[in-house]
Amino acid sequence: MPEKFLSKLLKLLPELLSLYRSSMGLPEKKLPPDRLTKNELLNVARWVRQLSGGLTENRELIGEVYMNEDEWLSAYLLYYFPISFIQSSHGIGLLGNFSSRLEKMNALDLGSGPGPCSLALWNQGVRNVLGLEKSRKAIWLAEELARRVGAPCVFQHHDALKNRPLPDRRFDLIIAGHFFNELWSKSETRIRLRIEYLNKVMKHLNKDGYLILFEPALTSTNRDTLRLRDGLLENGYTVHYPCFFQGGCPALEPENGACYTEIYCQLPGFLKAIIRAARFRKENLKYTLFIMGRREKTGINTFKDGCRVVSSLMESKSGRLRYYICGRDGRFTISAPGDLEADYMKTFLTLKRMDVISFRSVEKRKNGIGLTPESKLERL
Ligand SMILES: C[S@@+](CC[C@H](N)C(=O)[O-])C[C@H]1O[C@@H](n2cnc3c(N)ncnc32)[C@H](O)[C@@H]1O
Repeated sequence: MPEKFLSKLLKLLPELLSLYRSSMGLPEKKLPPDRLTKNELLNVARWVRQLSGGLTENRELIGEVYMNEDEWLSAYLLYYFPISFIQSSHGIGLLGNFSSRLEKMNALDLGSGPGPCSLALWNQGVRNVLGLEKSRKAIWLAEELARRVGAPCVFQHHDALKNRPLPDRRFDLIIAGHFFNELWSKSETRIRLRIEYLNKVMKHLNKDGYLILFEPALTSTNRDTLRLRDGLLENGYTVHYPCFFQGGCPALEPENGACYTEIYCQLPGFLKAIIRAARFRKENLKYTLFIMGRREKTGINTFKDGCRVVSSLMESKSGRLRYYICGRDGRFTISAPGDLEADYMKTFLTLKRMDVISFRSVEKRKNGIGLTPESKLERL
């Protein structure tokens, strides 16, 4: 599934490289059009590390106009842009059965930056995309990139903190990628302020439209996003993905609990090279993703009787293997003795976060259910 998004991303790469070089004043004509030179790679990796430190470690750059600094913007274009493009493509792809309608949808991209989510929408068929963004430099880049690839996306200036009205229109899709964590980030009341803003935004969603909200998987931003999810549920909205459970998120109960999505794909070579040069340890793309809307629908969460795997495989001291899973009634564990011999053990041992499973003939255990030789387990 992600492979087709990756090939679209590879087609964008020469344009991303060219924009990076022109914004850094580098002699484009003398450089290879489809890859970074060794020197460029080292510079980009250095800026990516700095930007990553500012965005994720000490979070100094959150809410700052880092998009207006050429070096950081370059790091964004060549590293965070491709990652956001893959993440948003994955989220849009989850609309599954509705993808045939994507062409007729009109979409809003909040905090669009240089446009990865807008271009992902356009690549998957959405023809009417409006991006709203605070940084003028990012707007210029988004417009330039869209023009170069022939995507008729429109970008406008908008500052979410200024309490100005959103465009007087309704949208079938609203996407917000790595945006909410930048709003009121230093305020203790940030969750309430974000929920108030999000509620205003949701008034612009058509009654059967979708909100695709994604944020980093860091524990702090993950938990803040789970709280946004809960805030929307309290205001009458539904989670279409990933939750079957429509109550307060159980992952918020343990102090450091988290719930995020993982994309399992082979990253393109140029991204792997930056990751290596920046000395990051990144195997899969982890992020916090929710698809929400006004009312129950079928089509996204197709397997409503199943449970979603929401952890990786864990082993207890006694050698019992278990995962957290979350279904219509909330979160619990499914476990099996490590040496259990059963046909389904191969499936059990290879479950991945966000897989959906069904099971029968299980035994009740203290914090969940246990598999026995008589049990049935299926990945749906
Ligand atoms: C981390 S970037 C994400 C960009 C893009 N959505 C993506 O997924 O890569 C966050 C974006 O939100 C923008 N932003 C931050 N605060 C904003 C605000 N108050 N109003 C509008 N945009 C804002 C930033 O300028 C930046 O472009």
